[in-house]
Amino acid sequence: KQYEYILTSKPDPSVALITLNRPKALNALCSPLFDELNEALAGYDADPEVGAIVLTGSEKAFAAGADIKEMRDKQCAFSDVYKNKFLENWTAITNLRKPIIAAVSGYALGGGCELALSTDIILASPTAKFGQPEINLGVIPGAGGTQRLARAIGKSRTMELVLTGRNFSAREAEAWGVVSRVVGEGEGEVVKEAIEMAKVIAGKGQLAVQAGKEAVNAAYEGSLIEGLRTERRLFHMMFATSDQKEGMSAFTEKRKANFTHS
Ligand code: HXC
Repeated sequence: KQYEYILTSKPDPSVALITLNRPKALNALCSPLFDELNEALAGYDADPEVGAIVLTGSEKAFAAGADIKEMRDKQCAFSDVYKNKFLENWTAITNLRKPIIAAVSGYALGGGCELALSTDIILASPTAKFGQPEINLGVIPGAGGTQRLARAIGKSRTMELVLTGRNFSAREAEAWGVVSRVVGEGEGEVVKEAIEMAKVIAGKGQLAVQAGKEAVNAAYEGSLIEGLRTERRLFHMMFATSDQKEGMSAFTEKRKANFTHS
């Protein structure tokens, strides 16, 4: 399908690639872009061929934030943003079953940083610049930035970033655990690496991948006690699948597992 603000492709039958494509505005996340993104994500989440999704932007910008020009006219209109559920469509991405890997080059600021934080794994190019500069616009992060950063990097650093609005580098993001890895130099490197990782994940048993995502999210989203209970129960559930039998048999028989996702 042709979209106006995103490009979609399958670099491998098992991997979906979504590229934010609003170059003139550095991929500012206007509402129609988000609607398209959600539609594409839902389609791939439902596509049995796809095992993992990669989300990327351009070399210059993953996304420079929510669209400031669109938001500007919303000032002093609580009734408008509340009634129209402003930002509610930003949560759909966190409800997907399949893993999403963000491949970030250039600016990931404001809503762009929050969008990356809403994915499951972030890979960064050395050029990546993250930040929550909303304070400079007289607002605060509104799509999870304060919550997800606080969980990922602690209170003091998050306070500094949210209250000063300063950017942080790919290396800082890596040292703090915001991103899983900074990949090598070179144009397109981070996307290539993300596609490779997506292929690896897509090659596993999808039931276990989805249960693993659910369990990690339980650790991230809830209390430790709830998380441990959820993990135990999901682990028990794995013993009701053929993939568990196949995976463990293949190991003992010293051969490659042939998962049927059942
Ligand atoms: C709308 C944006 C934009 C944005 C850039 N543009 N960011 N338009 N919303 N967030 C537009 C510019 O207006 C300009 O268009 C074009 O993209 C190129 O940007 P420049 O500023 O000319 O580029 P450059 O000098 O290279 O500077 C890059 C930049 C800067 C440092 C990233 O663009 C910048 O500071 N952008 C805003 C970053 C920001 O504050 N993000 C947080 C947004 S608030 P024209 O037509 O003028 O040439 C937010 C709230 C989230 O995200 C709340 C929850 C959703």
